[in-house]
Amino acid sequence: MEEKKKIILTGDRPTGRLHVGHYAGSLKRRVELQESGEFEDMFIMIADAQALTDNADNPEKVRQNIIQVALDYLSCGLDPAKTTLFIQSQIPELTELTFYYMNLVTVSRLQRNPTVKNEIKMRGFETSIPVGFFAYPISQASDITAFKATTVPVGEDQLPMIEQTREIVRSFNHIYGEVLVEPDALIPDNKACLRLPGIDGKAKMSKSLNNCIYLSDTEEEVKKKVMSMFTDPNHLRVQDPGCVEGNPVFIYLDAFCNDGHFEKFWPEYKNLDELKGHYTRGGLGDVKVKKFLNQVLQEELTPIRARRKEYEKNIPEVYRILKEGSIKARKVAAQTLADVKAAMKINYFDDEELIQSQAQRFSEGSLTE
Ligand code: TRP
Repeated sequence: MEEKKKIILTGDRPTGRLHVGHYAGSLKRRVELQESGEFEDMFIMIADAQALTDNADNPEKVRQNIIQVALDYLSCGLDPAKTTLFIQSQIPELTELTFYYMNLVTVSRLQRNPTVKNEIKMRGFETSIPVGFFAYPISQASDITAFKATTVPVGEDQLPMIEQTREIVRSFNHIYGEVLVEPDALIPDNKACLRLPGIDGKAKMSKSLNNCIYLSDTEEEVKKKVMSMFTDPNHLRVQDPGCVEGNPVFIYLDAFCNDGHFEKFWPEYKNLDELKGHYTRGGLGDVKVKKFLNQVLQEELTPIRARRKEYEKNIPEVYRILKEGSIKARKVAAQTLADVKAAMKINYFDDEELIQSQAQRFSEGSLTE
């Protein structure tokens, strides 16, 4: 059998600027995958239509954040010459696929989707769930399958979406024939990158909690945030033993620092294990560790910030990149939709055999059923 082409699709809802949690959880990996040469094609989508499923009353928020997310992508090193960047709503084929996939999913299956369940609770939707929101996992399956994606790099919270997609693919292929490709999720190997806590120690970075470090924060903003970070609340005096588990400063170091950073900024220690050892024994103050974390983060964020500044000078060019990407993405999705409709036999006007056989049936004059 011909080897399956490896294709990536992933995306983000444009509801705010992207933060270092997004970067550790997925963005950094995407750039590595882009450069790996292992993939035939890579599509990255700004999921504005999905963002509207729980922001129907605030379309302006979504509209304003499309450019922010695009700038974040480009500044991280996603390269439009290698990766197709596009806007979900500009690909109407995705909505059409969703309508057919809806027949393959039950209401109770959607109700059991852990991500949907959790989001319903977080948004207080229990008594009035918008249908579009409830069905967004089906639309996400369209996003993925329209591009015949084999690989979906996402954060851990998206695993139920990929599982739902796989079920839809199996069900479709079983009923209509092998057309769709079952995707695999790709989540970070580094545990610390799975979910970066907020700077306040809360489980998740979130705009509404005001506990994020944004990729677009200035050097001063990043420093101020790092120096104000929550650490081990029992580590009161420098000589006290400290706890590294669940300590956000150390979780960020787990996610971002490498031995090279020690060599460059803090040669007293060889690596993070040595630093953790000292902190745990006592005698190491939080301020020193935070200063180091700031250096590590600045090293990562400085080139990102510089690229953002360049693209910010040419916003019409960024829209042009998204437009070009959307045109390309639409061609690919249209081909998949054509394959889907042919498999479902709802491509009546292209089906010469159907037209001829119907002609035959009626010319015989005997059949009326
Ligand atoms: N649900 C994703 C998020 O909230 C965004 C998204 C939409 C997506 N469609 C996708 C991710 C397809 C991966 C694949 O971030």
